[in-house]
Amino acid sequence: MKDILIIIGASGHGKVVADIAIKMNKWQSIAFFDDDESIKASMGLKVIGNTTDAYIYIDKADFFVAIGNNATREKVQEKLMDEGMSVVSLIHPSAVIGTDVEIGIGTAVMAGVVINSSSKIGKGCIINTSSSLDHDNVIEDYVHISPGVNLAGTVKIGKGSWIGIGSVVSNNVNLCSGCKVGAGAVVVKDITESGTYVGVPVRRVVR
Ligand SMILES: CC(C)(COP(=O)(O)OP(=O)(O)OC[C@H]1O[C@@H](n2cnc3c(N)ncnc32)[C@H](O)[C@@H]1OP(=O)(O)O)[C@@H](O)C(=O)NCCC(=O)NCCS
Repeated sequence: MKDILIIIGASGHGKVVADIAIKMNKWQSIAFFDDDESIKASMGLKVIGNTTDAYIYIDKADFFVAIGNNATREKVQEKLMDEGMSVVSLIHPSAVIGTDVEIGIGTAVMAGVVINSSSKIGKGCIINTSSSLDHDNVIEDYVHISPGVNLAGTVKIGKGSWIGIGSVVSNNVNLCSGCKVGAGAVVVKDITESGTYVGVPVRRVVR
């Protein structure tokens, strides 16, 4: 644990992430990096550089990538890790984490989340506000579980998938990598082909 936490991305998602870090009370100072030079501060926290400046802080700072897009977050986090930066996970103090739960590097667990026993969360995931993940879930790397999602027991979500706000996945259902599930959708069967799925029960959106 270093003295400074640098959050990459000063957008709305970055603000929610910064709030978690403030509440964790582990860093002497918290600042942002953002590639938009016009943003000087966010929520009273300074923007002190952009991703190309990370090496300046290699000995002094922990890093967290607060970029909502799964593929971009993966790219930036993997580069930081390859360069030997310290990437941390952020877990809101109100989150309820069960026994035998694993949470990967660079993952954010937001306010009001419940993750039940023996679930495994990969690296660089967003487990967003008030989502509920029951027992024995496997959430692969760089997945976004949106606010208010309910995952039943023994659900598997493949790498880089985005599960939309308020959606539901029934027990023992597997989603392959690269799935996008729409707001309010209900998934009751395995999804084996990447793509966008909406509705109750879900149908694939064909373009
Ligand atoms: C699923 C989603 C990603 C699709 O976005 P898109 O690729 O831009 O697709 P479109 O808006 O063009 O919609 C395609 C079709 O699916 C329908 N559709 C889109 N989202 C839907 C949803 N959530 N439920 C039901 N139908 C939906 C549209 O009405 C449209 O139907 P049509 O072809 O019959 O007209 C998006 O609508 C969505 O639900 N995003 C989730 C947002 C979210 O969770 N935000 C939280 C961030 S923290």
